[in-house]
Amino acid sequence: MIMTEDIRSIAGKTAIVTGAASGMGCATARLFAQQGAKVALTDLDQAACDRAAEAIRAEGARGEVLPLAFNVADHEAIRRVIAEVANRLGGIDIIVNNAGIVGFASIDDPENYEKQWQRCIDVMITPHQRIIREALPHLRRSEAARIVNIASTEGLGATPGDSPYVAVKHAVVGLTRALAVDLGPEGITVNCICPGAIHTGMTDDIPDGKKETFARRRVALRRYGRPEEVAQMTLSLVLPAASYLTGAVIPVDGGLTIRNA
Ligand code: NAI
Repeated sequence: MIMTEDIRSIAGKTAIVTGAASGMGCATARLFAQQGAKVALTDLDQAACDRAAEAIRAEGARGEVLPLAFNVADHEAIRRVIAEVANRLGGIDIIVNNAGIVGFASIDDPENYEKQWQRCIDVMITPHQRIIREALPHLRRSEAARIVNIASTEGLGATPGDSPYVAVKHAVVGLTRALAVDLGPEGITVNCICPGAIHTGMTDDIPDGKKETFARRRVALRRYGRPEEVAQMTLSLVLPAASYLTGAVIPVDGGLTIRNA
């Protein structure tokens, strides 16, 4: 590959982002569209997808935004949506597996534990491999195929009482590494981001005071992150220029995982 300036651009590329009506997924879809990519903005609810897409267009995005509702836990819906995105946007170059839910459950609460365990698996790991497998024929036709999985710092360590979520996020790290090895010979890169504590829909319910105390005590940068700060790292990983980076597990956590005291 000749290292020219346009390999630092995703203009004209086609991307699918899951869980993109809110938080980091929305910030990622917005940034990609601003950069001139064609983006399938997907989430559970069509009206929420439409609203997010409309807001991104109103801000003057250069790239097309296609809002599409689907549940990542529905295998048939994955097949339908991947085909539709490839057809309407002209292929698939980039996948961002981002959709997520909270998964707190005490090990001593069998009923809730089983429920959360299954939900976490259904939403945050099984869909990743299904979406990737379904999109593979399209990724194989791309000149710069890129996959980014959004894990968590819970994929590197553990918060008490969060083991279904922690187990699944560790699995996202494992799947990333395994598929980076499997798809490496074809030049398809697979990387993963581990966000720390970020201001999104997922953390909305945590009172501000609690967030500030946590950040002061635990985060080197002494604050929660913004979804846009994670989106910037995702963009870096999907650039054509990021052609020799694969299997990487990158914390975007303000220094949460390196601070001991
Ligand atoms: P968010 O709640 O703002 O956005 C998540 C989106 O995923 C929502 O719009 C939701 O509707 C969608 N979603 C949930 N279940 C779905 C399903 N079955 N099918 C399709 N879409 C579905 O949360 P946030 O924080 O932006 O989450 C994005 C990712 O980042 C998740 O994977 C989460 O686990 C991860 N994460 C979040 C952190 C945080 O502090 N907010 C920290 C580390 C990781």
